[in-house]
Amino acid sequence: MTYRENVEGLDASILMHPRVWEASGHVENFTDPMIDCKQCKSRYRLDVLGDQINEKKKKKAIEALRENLKDNSEIISKIDSILSGPDENENFESLLTDDEIGRLLLAELNCPQCGNKNTFTSARKFNLMFKTFIGPVEDSGSVVYLRPETAQGIFVNFLNVQSASRQKLPFGIAQIGKAFRNEINTKNFLFRTREFEQMEMQFFVKPADDKKWFDYWKTERLNWYKNLGMSEEKLRYHDHPENKLAHYAKEATDIEYDFPFGWGEMEGIHNRTNFDLSKHEEYSGKSLKFFDEEAKEKYLPFIIETSAGASRSFMAFLIDAYSEEEVKGEQRVVLRFHPKLAPIKAAILPLVNKDGMPEIAREIEKGLRRNIKVFYDDKGAVGRRYRRQDEIGTPFCLTVDTQTLEDKTVTVRERDSMEQVRVSIDELSEHLLKKLSD
Ligand code: GAP
Repeated sequence: MTYRENVEGLDASILMHPRVWEASGHVENFTDPMIDCKQCKSRYRLDVLGDQINEKKKKKAIEALRENLKDNSEIISKIDSILSGPDENENFESLLTDDEIGRLLLAELNCPQCGNKNTFTSARKFNLMFKTFIGPVEDSGSVVYLRPETAQGIFVNFLNVQSASRQKLPFGIAQIGKAFRNEINTKNFLFRTREFEQMEMQFFVKPADDKKWFDYWKTERLNWYKNLGMSEEKLRYHDHPENKLAHYAKEATDIEYDFPFGWGEMEGIHNRTNFDLSKHEEYSGKSLKFFDEEAKEKYLPFIIETSAGASRSFMAFLIDAYSEEEVKGEQRVVLRFHPKLAPIKAAILPLVNKDGMPEIAREIEKGLRRNIKVFYDDKGAVGRRYRRQDEIGTPFCLTVDTQTLEDKTVTVRERDSMEQVRVSIDELSEHLLKKLSD
């Protein structure tokens, strides 16, 4: 965002007027289908129940379903049509969430927790928004919601930001912030949590240019992951078929990563049309139309949304960076983070704690700390210290040694190649900043 003159930053409220969430459709539609096992009381999200059932059992349940329904040609052809989709997991999900078929298929499945068959309740809708109350009285008039996405804060502030920044179309508003969802099942570490960090951008465009900008951001966002070092073969698009599009979307794609537990969404890119702005206009009674000075007309822009999970994509970067290798007969664990993502950019290590080396090392640390996140470590053998930094992904280790006392240079050891070069203390800051911005 900071590299683009046509994208502004925002930090909108977590608690907004409850009507915002009525306008957005969240009060009515932001639900997941929930089922319980009557036997062991385990609770599941119906649409992702298939993730916890192995392929053999799924096939067996579908066969049993077909057998039970063999005399009903209409429903059998509906099942066939669903199963002809390209993605087996999605096909199973579609069967489970179909009003007519889902109930019958559930009766053929065993609870993943207790193993009992035909013990599921029917599905109920469960709203994912966390509720709380404004003020001392806990009544329906004082209900507010913790935002389930950062996007709505951008929509309601669209004209404030546009007029304050004097942006013209096309331009974007981006923000990073916490979002809260009362997920039925949290799982897979940071993949699905109830409190997580989103980084979203809404790009406002002329309606006629929507396709051009959707394609542009689709490419740009995939490149963002690649340019930060994520393995290309573990990245893919998942375009949403028309019948699976969210109610507000004209076109949508996910950027997925091949996690150890399978492909999963890291980011969604949507053409949201003018759905959101028109809803907020309707519910607030306030115009959100943009005045196009060239065309001398007022209209609602279309919105191309890029919505990434910061915590979820961080997890993907972490998995992607992790590696184990053998170096001179010893095991080395190394996080090969792109230097831009490494939490500590350089470690400063005096070779020994005497001969003036700690004093020089502390001076270097003080000088660098103003611009770069650095870490000072004088504990243990230098080889051990290198390994500790490798494990947390620090791209550079700077060692003050005997030669430093003679010529005011230090060794700069690069994490991945383990190559060492000597750099003058005076040029260290410039050397590192250049490496970090490459
Ligand atoms: N404004 C659109 C929106 O919020 P979403 O697909 O619901 O779309 C966007 O969420 C991203 O937020 C996802 O791609 C994912 O990375 C992240 N995300 C969603 N729910 C999450 C959860 N429960 N835990 C962690 N990350 C989540």
